[in-house]
Amino acid sequence: MKPEKINIAIAGFGNIGSYFYKILEKNKINIFNKTGKVPFVKYISARNINKKRLIKIPKSKWVKNPLNIPSMDNVDIVFELIGGSEGVAKKLVFSALKNKIHVITANKALMAKYGDQLAYLAEKNKVNLEYEASVAGGVPIIRSIKDGLIANKINKIYGILNGTTNFILSSMDISKKKFSEVLDKAKKLGFAENNPISDLNGNDSAAKLRILSSIAFNKTISKNKILTEGIQNINLTDILHAKKLGYKIKLLSISEIKNKKLIERVHPCLISKHSHLANIDGVLNAVVIDGLPIGRSILQGEGAGPGPTSSALISDLCSVLKGNIQYPFGVSYLLRKKIAKFDVSKHLCSSYLRIEVKDLPGVLSSVTKTFANNKISIKNLIQNPYKKNKKASIIIITHENLEQNYNNLLLSLSKNKFVLKKPTFIRIEKV
Ligand SMILES: NC(=O)c1ccc[n+]([C@@H]2O[C@H](COP(=O)([O-])OP(=O)(O)OC[C@H]3O[C@@H](n4cnc5c(N)ncnc54)[C@H](OP(=O)(O)O)[C@@H]3O)[C@@H](O)[C@H]2O)c1
Repeated sequence: MKPEKINIAIAGFGNIGSYFYKILEKNKINIFNKTGKVPFVKYISARNINKKRLIKIPKSKWVKNPLNIPSMDNVDIVFELIGGSEGVAKKLVFSALKNKIHVITANKALMAKYGDQLAYLAEKNKVNLEYEASVAGGVPIIRSIKDGLIANKINKIYGILNGTTNFILSSMDISKKKFSEVLDKAKKLGFAENNPISDLNGNDSAAKLRILSSIAFNKTISKNKILTEGIQNINLTDILHAKKLGYKIKLLSISEIKNKKLIERVHPCLISKHSHLANIDGVLNAVVIDGLPIGRSILQGEGAGPGPTSSALISDLCSVLKGNIQYPFGVSYLLRKKIAKFDVSKHLCSSYLRIEVKDLPGVLSSVTKTFANNKISIKNLIQNPYKKNKKASIIIITHENLEQNYNNLLLSLSKNKFVLKKPTFIRIEKV
């Protein structure tokens, strides 16, 4: 009997699309052995089909406009590897699902924004919508939650979801170089895009967190504003002080259910240098799941780049070829609930503050008084005077307190005549 041939269209032939094509061609026998089906790339599309590319593709495969793909003959699976939450990527994915074609995408922006509508369409039309590559590429976290951890009631999911920022923070720690120098190095090595703003400001991590918490908690994708802070204001001084105090600084994405309400946060954290996450360095990602009955489970691996992303895409492909038409978010849209938002101002944590002040008599008592006025008690205080310019830096570790009190404290400090600039405030997370 002739093996069944499955026709594939790849829309987007950049970093990911072209590498994925190579890996797919290399893996054909492996895929056939494991699924009994042979994937065949019938069409490829990109913005400029005349562009010089490293891989030679027969002219007959090129499709000028990717939006024509869903109405072309015999397309079984569309790979959307264009990117962006709007425009061609969005139109293509909606149109493919409407035409009852399976979709595999690496597009976190699209899934975080339209995942609910897309999942509804896929479910209604009984086709797959797979997106393992959209979160933490080489870490098979989505399939792990949907399948491997199916028996668990998850109450918290958190970790390092952005390789670029993890590379920057860990390189600063190891090389003692400044943020700007390390960012340049990350760009040279291809670990940061030319415009890395959505990595640095936490938005990339927040999109991934929205996707993960929907699957982990069987809920619709939250439209809530996630507490999102990036790493742009972390400087080497903070990393060195944190180290002396027994911590490392990591950009964490955290989603948990507290008192039956959902709290999602992305921000830099001081974490114990002995914790597992503190030792996830470079471009690695790691995700921790706290669930019952499993307890704590940790997955780690390279988060991005063509290799890990292609590995996730092939995994999605095999799932489709095996005929696993699952609910895209693990359960039917009928069962996905909305979870009320936890009031983030009631979030409780200890914190690290670095306050740059004028080095004058009375400064320390003025600053500590501001803490007392805002009901925040100090656990540790280090004062570093810089004799040359009559400035000093005060490092404070606080006892646990409420987010709203920290907000008030920061406001009061900004009005304090001795304080020279906005203090650096980093939450301490128990992980
Ligand atoms: N890079 C990573 O490490 C990584 C990791 C995980 C997920 N992802 C996701 O994978 C997707 C692709 O990323 P990438 O790094 O491969 O991006 P990329 O290198 O910029 O490639 C984008 C591809 O889409 C094509 N394209 C752009 N606009 C188009 C349009 N209007 N019509 C048709 N084709 C269009 C481009 O065509 P031309 O070739 O003609 O310019 C190019 O082939 C994104 O969703 C991204 O978030 C990337």
